[in-house]
Amino acid sequence: MSVPSALTAGLWARDESSPRTPTRRHYLMCPPEYFTVEYSINPWMDPDTPVDTDLAMAQWRSLKAAYERLGHTVEVVEPQPGLPDMVFSANSATVIDGRVLGARFRAAERAAEAEHFRRWFSARGYRELIMPSRINEAEGDFAWTGELLLAGSGFRTDPEAHAEAQEALGVPVISLQLTDPRYYHLDTALFVLETGPQPQIAYYPQAFSAGSLKVLERLFPGAVLGSAADAECLGLNGVSDGRHVVLPLEATDLAGQLEKRGYEPVLLDVSELRKSGGGPKCCTMEIHT
Ligand code: ARG
Repeated sequence: MSVPSALTAGLWARDESSPRTPTRRHYLMCPPEYFTVEYSINPWMDPDTPVDTDLAMAQWRSLKAAYERLGHTVEVVEPQPGLPDMVFSANSATVIDGRVLGARFRAAERAAEAEHFRRWFSARGYRELIMPSRINEAEGDFAWTGELLLAGSGFRTDPEAHAEAQEALGVPVISLQLTDPRYYHLDTALFVLETGPQPQIAYYPQAFSAGSLKVLERLFPGAVLGSAADAECLGLNGVSDGRHVVLPLEATDLAGQLEKRGYEPVLLDVSELRKSGGGPKCCTMEIHT
C-alpha cells in the first residue's frame, strides 16, 4: 500500500529541500596583512608562484563581510610580520563550551602563531586555557559536531593529540586517518553542515583510509559526498551556520547538492588564499560557547 508522501514527510522526515534554520556563530579571524607563500609545507604551496597580498586581503575582507551580513560575530587577531600563514586562524585553537585547547604546530615556520592566539584568549578572560603537549593544529584537524569531535591525523596533528583533546575538552573524540597529502588537514576534506543532536557533515571520501571511511559511513549515513572537482578547489573547506554554507566559488557540484537539501550556498573567490592550501574554513576559527 502506498502512503501519501506529504504525510510520510510530515511524520517521518523533514522535507529535504525546505529551507533550514541558521544559528548565530562566533568567529575569530586574522587579516592576511603579511600573507605570502615563502615556504612549502603542503603540496598546494609553491614559493615560486607570485602571491598578491592585496588581493588576498580583498578576498579575506569579503569573507568577513559575508559572515557579518549573515549576522555572525567576527573578532580579529592582530597579524604579525614574519607569520605569513597566520591568516589561517582555524589552526590555532579548538574552543568548546568556552574551554580553549591551543595549538602546537608541526612546522617550525608556524610555531610562533600559537602563542599570539593563546594571548588573545588569555587577555579576553578565557580561564580554561590549555596548551597541548602533542602536535595539534586545532580546527585544521578537529571538527566539532556538537556531539563528537572528529579528529584527523596522517599529516599534521599527532594521533596522540586526539586523546589529549578528549581529556582537555571533555568531549568524545573520533579519530580519522587522512591518506592523501593534498588533503593534509581534516578541514580540507570534511566540514560540519549541521550541529546538534542530529549532526550532518560533508566530506570527500577519497581523502580517508578504508577504516576511517567506514566510521564516517556508520556515523553519518546521510552525509553529503563531495566530488573530486569539489575537493580540488578545497570545496570541502566550507563553513556552515546550519543554513548558509560559505564555499569557494568553484565548488559548484557541492553547491548544487547542498541547494537540493535546503542549504543556501554562499560562493566566494578565495583563489589567492588557496595558493597556500587554504579556503574559507582555514581562515575561520569558530568559538563554540
Ligand atoms: N599554509 C598553511 C599550512 O600548510 C595552510 C593552512 C590551512 N589551514 C587549514 N585549516 N587547513 O599550514
